[in-house]
Amino acid sequence: MNLKIITVPDPILTQKTDAVKKIDRSIFKLADDMIETCRKANGIGLAAPQIGKSVRLCIINLEHLGLAPFVLINPKIIKKSWKKIEMEEGCLSIPGIFGIVKRPEKITVKAINLTGEENSFDADGLVARVIQHEIDHLDGILFTSKILKRTDPKPDTKELRE
Ligand code: CO
Repeated sequence: MNLKIITVPDPILTQKTDAVKKIDRSIFKLADDMIETCRKANGIGLAAPQIGKSVRLCIINLEHLGLAPFVLINPKIIKKSWKKIEMEEGCLSIPGIFGIVKRPEKITVKAINLTGEENSFDADGLVARVIQHEIDHLDGILFTSKILKRTDPKPDTKELRE
């Protein structure tokens, strides 16, 4: 089911989310619907508050890089590289705004998957970038508070919306 994407200034976007306590059918459905919604919106990631649910769950959709979409439940960054890099970002909840944001280049993330297992994994490149943007959403932080420099939307930046 395609869900409605919430945009600024809706207050849900700046609230900290609640942890997911139980992985049940409603969570499977939510994850499925969020992947579908993200695909339809040409996004590369989507966090639950963006579709109106204040829970700690996000999905990453980097199918254009050959990566199957995946779900992160109660994710936490447990390690960050000292090295930070600048990259352009956009957000499905903040239409028309793009800008350069500096974030750690590599991260280690701990999260629960849909089968309830907790895993840690390393990420870099665009994967690390999207995960950090989405975890910010789960903490009520929008990328606009981190923009160093606004950029003009280019036709291909559509794919950078998170
Ligand atoms: Co976003």
